[in-house]
Amino acid sequence: MKRILIINGPNLNLLGKREPEIYGHQTLADLEKELTHAFPELELHFFQSNHEGDLIDKIQEQVGTASVKGIVLNPGAYTHTSIALLDALKALTIPVIEVHLSNIHAREEFRRHSVTAQAAKGIIAGLGFDGYKLAVRYLQER
Ligand code: DQA
Repeated sequence: MKRILIINGPNLNLLGKREPEIYGHQTLADLEKELTHAFPELELHFFQSNHEGDLIDKIQEQVGTASVKGIVLNPGAYTHTSIALLDALKALTIPVIEVHLSNIHAREEFRRHSVTAQAAKGIIAGLGFDGYKLAVRYLQER
C-alpha cells in the first residue's frame, strides 16, 4: 500500500507570505508539488486546516483502518498546546512522523516543547521542505 497522508495545521496555508525569514518564500502548493514530484510511485494525500477539530477529524478517519501507511504531520502551533490532538494521535496504530519547518528548539522557549511528539514515531525539525521528504521516505521504506 502506497498511500501516505500529509497533514499541515494552522497558518501553514500562509507559507510564502508568513515570516519568510523563518519559513522561506515557497508556498504550501510548492511543498505539495515538490513532494508529488519526488514520490511519483506514492499516492500522497494532502490536508491542511486552521481548525483543531478538523485536524482531529482527519486523524480519526485513520483510526482502525489501514488505508494509509503513515502520516506526516506538522501541527503548527497546536504542537505546543493540543492535548486533544495528542489524544487523537494516540488512537492511531499507523506511524506518525512530526515535522517542523523551523528548528523549534532554537526558537522561543514556548516552542521548545511539543505536546504532540509523545505520539510520534519520530520528529524532524529545522530542515524545511526536506524534512517532509525525509519523513515520507521513512514511511515508504518502513
Ligand atoms: C512550525 C513551528 C511552530 O512553532 C509554529 O507555530 C508553526 C510552524 C514549523 O513548521 O516550524 O506554525 O510547526
